[in-house]
Amino acid sequence: MKFLICFQFISLLICASAGDYDYAEVLEKSLLFYEAQRTGYLPDNNRIPWRGDSFVTDQGDEGEDLEGGYFDAGDHVKFQFPAAAAMTYLAWGMYDSVEGYQKAGQWENALSCLRWGMDYFIKIHPSPNVLYVQIGNGTEDHRFWGRPEDWNGSDPRPTLKATPSKPASDVAGETSASMSAASMVFRFNGNTEYADLLLMHATQLYNFAVTYQGLYSDSFPEVRNFYNSRAYGDELLWSAAWLYRATGDLNYRQDYIKWWTEFELNYRPTSADWSSKVAQAQVLLAKIDGSAQFVNATREFCDWFIKDAPKTPKNLVFISLWGSLRHNSNIVYLCLQAANIGINTDVYRAFAKSQIDYMLGDTGRSFVVGFGNNPPVRPHHRAASCPDPPAICDDTYLSSPDPSPQILIGALVGGPNITDEYVDDREDYVQNEVTLDYNAGYQSSIAELCKLYCSGTGFVRPIYFMYLILIVVSLLK
Ligand SMILES: *[C@@H]1O[C@H](CO)[C@@H](O)[C@H](O)[C@H]1NC(C)=O
Ligand SMILES: *[C@@H]1O[C@H](CO)[C@@H](O)[C@H](O)[C@H]1NC(C)=O
Ligand SMILES: *[C@@H]1O[C@H](CO)[C@@H](O)[C@H](O)[C@H]1NC(C)=O
Ligand SMILES: *[C@@H]1O[C@H](CO)[C@@H](O)[C@H](O)[C@H]1NC(C)=O
Repeated sequence: MKFLICFQFISLLICASAGDYDYAEVLEKSLLFYEAQRTGYLPDNNRIPWRGDSFVTDQGDEGEDLEGGYFDAGDHVKFQFPAAAAMTYLAWGMYDSVEGYQKAGQWENALSCLRWGMDYFIKIHPSPNVLYVQIGNGTEDHRFWGRPEDWNGSDPRPTLKATPSKPASDVAGETSASMSAASMVFRFNGNTEYADLLLMHATQLYNFAVTYQGLYSDSFPEVRNFYNSRAYGDELLWSAAWLYRATGDLNYRQDYIKWWTEFELNYRPTSADWSSKVAQAQVLLAKIDGSAQFVNATREFCDWFIKDAPKTPKNLVFISLWGSLRHNSNIVYLCLQAANIGINTDVYRAFAKSQIDYMLGDTGRSFVVGFGNNPPVRPHHRAASCPDPPAICDDTYLSSPDPSPQILIGALVGGPNITDEYVDDREDYVQNEVTLDYNAGYQSSIAELCKLYCSGTGFVRPIYFMYLILIVVSLLK
């Protein structure tokens, strides 16, 4: 009998280290990361005990209420360009990988996450041709290391406002895409009025982007040091594609074909991120339009990612050092989409899983705060680095070698360098930053993997439970 028990313990250990992860738990945690990034008045059901109301005086030139939304990263600016890119990725994953959220029991939390973003996007678009593209000043913000609740700089904060004379086709296009995608999610969920409202904003923002064409980096040169934009043809393509998907209106189909040609977007990009939407649009169009040119572009892109893109010795595709894992996981989601439309399905899925599993622990460490084995404990994040009040929090906590007192559960850190090496150092923002857009393609990938591999109650746990029963039974014998 002792032999039997021993055998079963060994099986349990082997099972526990088989290299599979509880994607349901990972999804739940990623949503907690977004919750920790909330700003404005927090609701009573806030689940992050170390966060409170912040920046409630954010307002526009005409006194419009602009509180709410999400902090960009470990800082406190509301940069709209990457925030919109993140929300589009999240909404896409919610709409197309909904079963993953349902299996994980996270659908309601995901809806709240998306709605928190959308409620704020509605506020920053107070009239058809006005969009607030930034709240806060990057330079001033980055001088402050402390809790957002303790901010002692400009109040209210400065804003950047796009108008016909200061166009922002990139930011308006991406914001439109996010609202079209979100409208599909809320319509699917039965929130028809809210979906209609989002679609109205999406339509107006698209028209603003098309009618007054220009880069926001030209309208507001100060953004070049933060989220610089070099092109907007990709956002026009992307937003037209989403409007077509959300409405079925063939005028948007004519438009995206026009942008595809006019901006010469039929090439293989080398990244998919807050700035470049070419790959995202190609993959979305392969799915919703299905023409050979889009399907080909998608196949070429994913084949390049899997076969030819640079890799680390441990087989992580490595696009660039700053936030290496978000570059990777953004593309992983695109290739999971490609797999779903029948392009090299098994190969793309297996590869996607290998990349995400690297992030979750395959090299012996997790790159997700608060998850798995040996997770990062010093993310570059002001609020998490601060002790509980009333202790003063200032920049001594930036350089402190101690683990952050607050655990920023669910945040995907920047990641390793090209030799798979990673140093968990708060001051090194290249490898330890956490942002809205880092978690977005990643979270949608997790949702898709959970759709494919989670059982209804989390997929590893039933196996543990079975072994536990076997052990108890053999002890009783
Ligand atoms: C932000 O601060 C910098 C440096 O102090 C300044 O040059 C810039 O004009 C400011 N921008 C806004 C919108 O206040
Ligand atoms: C798509 O790829 C196939 C095979 O490589 C090629 O024959 C075809 O011309 C391509 N179509 C387009 C529209 O690029
Ligand atoms: C503002 O907060 C920072 C960081 O907490 C602190 O170093 C600084 O002394 C504060 N400034 C004032 C005027 O209170
Ligand atoms: C990767 O990071 C390690 C540890 O910081 C460093 O020693 C090494 O030089 C880095 N490799 C490259 C290629 O940058």
